[in-house]
Amino acid sequence: MPVPRAQFHDLKDRAVLITGGGSGIGAALVEGFVDQGARVAFVDIDERASLDLVERLAAPLYIPADLRDIDAVKKAAQTAATALGAIHVLVNNAARDDREPLESVTEESWDESQAVNLRHLFFMSQAIAPHMRQAGGGSIVNFSSIAYLLNMAEIPAYATAKAAIVGLTKSLAGKLGPDNIRVNAILPGMIVTERQKRLWLRDADIAGMQERQCLKRSLTADDLVGPCLFLASACSSGMTAQTMIIDGGAL
Ligand SMILES: NC(=O)c1ccc[n+]([C@@H]2O[C@H](COP(=O)([O-])OP(=O)(O)OC[C@H]3O[C@@H](n4cnc5c(N)ncnc54)[C@H](O)[C@@H]3O)[C@@H](O)[C@H]2O)c1
Repeated sequence: MPVPRAQFHDLKDRAVLITGGGSGIGAALVEGFVDQGARVAFVDIDERASLDLVERLAAPLYIPADLRDIDAVKKAAQTAATALGAIHVLVNNAARDDREPLESVTEESWDESQAVNLRHLFFMSQAIAPHMRQAGGGSIVNFSSIAYLLNMAEIPAYATAKAAIVGLTKSLAGKLGPDNIRVNAILPGMIVTERQKRLWLRDADIAGMQERQCLKRSLTADDLVGPCLFLASACSSGMTAQTMIIDGGAL
């Protein structure tokens, strides 16, 4: 059954920047904000998927960039602000959940994981905060994961980054709250996207998670759209420094 979508009227015409918006959950978020009448820009490294999305929705601005490169992060923030005006909503969604067990992790692969899963969230927030201040406030939504709470053996570097995102969220919320900028995190559970099915998820994994969840169905990218719109909207105006778990009751 499709997940229904509410209308958050204050998001109309809002300037929204989403990282990793080219595919997966990010693409559903781009579509969700476009449907609200927001003015949306998204950053992604995958040009093919991103251009397909732009063609399908005919509305968002695609900014190609590799978020591991902090100069590129800063340029992308500036490009978005120049095109859309003061950014009011930032969704830090981009990540890459490589599996790499304890024995295989090297200094290089550890740093690579932190670069793709953690570092850009800080520097994008740093670059966008002045634009939000100028707009009189804003909302930052950081994508963490329940993966760091599940004792998953194959993802030490990814789990570390996803745990750190909660600490980063709370610190940024403390710093930016006086400027009316709210910062919250979403922790998705198992979200069955095409990429997850292609790379990692076997039928037994999906069945095992459904067994564990209170809700006996697979969650999809659409299940994250409503929660993210809510955190972006002034409907959650009293809420900052919080984590929102969307996992069908797996924890
Ligand atoms: N799918 C899940 O089950 C799940 C579970 C928990 C948390 N999450 C989190 O939700 C978010 C979205 O997950 P997803 O499953 O849609 O991921 P995904 O891998 O399908 O999509 C991530 C997007 O980020 C982009 N990206 C990756 N590296 C980049 C880089 N260096 N520069 C620019 N763009 C880059 C990719 O091209 C892709 O479009 C992530 O933060 C992920 O950790 C997902």
